[in-house]
Amino acid sequence: MKTKITEMFGIQHPIIQGGMHHVGLAEMAAAVSNAGGLGIITALTQRTPDDLANEIAKCKDMTDKPFGVNVTFLPSVTPPDYPGYIKAIIEGGVKVVETAGNNPASVLPHLKDAGIKVIHKCTAVRHALKAQSIGCDAVSVDGFECGGHPGEDDVPNFILLPRAADELEIPFVSSGGQADGRSLVASLAFGAEGMNMGTRFIATKEAPVHENVKQAILAASELDTRLVMRPLRNTERVLTNAGVERLLEKERELGDKIKFEDILPEVAGVYPKIMKEGDMDAGAWSCGMVAGLINDIPTCQELIDRIMSQAEEIITSRMGGMLKG
Ligand SMILES: Cc1cc2nc3c(=O)[nH]c(=O)nc-3n(C[C@H](O)[C@H](O)[C@H](O)COP(=O)(O)O)c2cc1C
Repeated sequence: MKTKITEMFGIQHPIIQGGMHHVGLAEMAAAVSNAGGLGIITALTQRTPDDLANEIAKCKDMTDKPFGVNVTFLPSVTPPDYPGYIKAIIEGGVKVVETAGNNPASVLPHLKDAGIKVIHKCTAVRHALKAQSIGCDAVSVDGFECGGHPGEDDVPNFILLPRAADELEIPFVSSGGQADGRSLVASLAFGAEGMNMGTRFIATKEAPVHENVKQAILAASELDTRLVMRPLRNTERVLTNAGVERLLEKERELGDKIKFEDILPEVAGVYPKIMKEGDMDAGAWSCGMVAGLINDIPTCQELIDRIMSQAEEIITSRMGGMLKG
């Protein structure tokens, strides 16, 4: 399938694996890229820019296809060494960067000068327009269903994607709630040029996470995610567990008075405990409602091939048949 996104990134299929903390390692990115999608390494999971440089080199050893790096701008008292990470990305010869969180204006000129394509992930049309106006090449439009940070507007993709299509001139991909060929065709119908998936890619053979994480996604239904940190205006969609329910209890008890320090045990340092050790009650980790559509653990190649053949079947046989009828 050829779309503006496959052309822009030089990939075979319009499918991107979004940056994922402690999941987006070289193994994950290379598996997605080798399967014809765009795999993405998550910069901030690497403790230092040197570690990121090593992870990029490792990924290059595992694939000769294009892959990207995610740079997430988080609200933080002591910000990470962003200039160092950007330098590692440029010197590593990476061709695509996915930015997320705050406005990427401060790093954009460096990336553009290096000939890197930038896709900014955002949860609101106004943020997408801002990204377009500062020179991003594409955007990833992340609906309320998404795993991770859906923002505070709560607009699901059935509204957000056609709204983005009505306003944007640069190409965009859908993100949040995407799982299969049906998702891809629907995204294209809404005007997207491809789709971005997070949660679906965790339940694959190559995802470098503990087996308990994959089984938790398989066991979950679309009713099993929770929104945490709403009172802090840092909303995150996570899979429920004992730690998450404890966090929500604190939110109910403390109300508007809640501070980040109150919930540190349930949010700080949780990712390695979940992703590496498989301690599934450790606390908050991002997971989308799409868990309700995930029932197996294929390889990335099997997953992407299945998505593409299902999409083709829907477009040519099902919809084509309706038109003929
Ligand atoms: C475990 C996990 C960790 C994530 N970490 C990040 C991150 O560090 N930076 C980022 O921009 N997005 C992050 N995301 C969001 C994904 O890139 C993607 O936008 C989202 O998962 C899409 O929704 P879906 O899960 O319904 O496919 C994360 C998602 C998950 C599930």
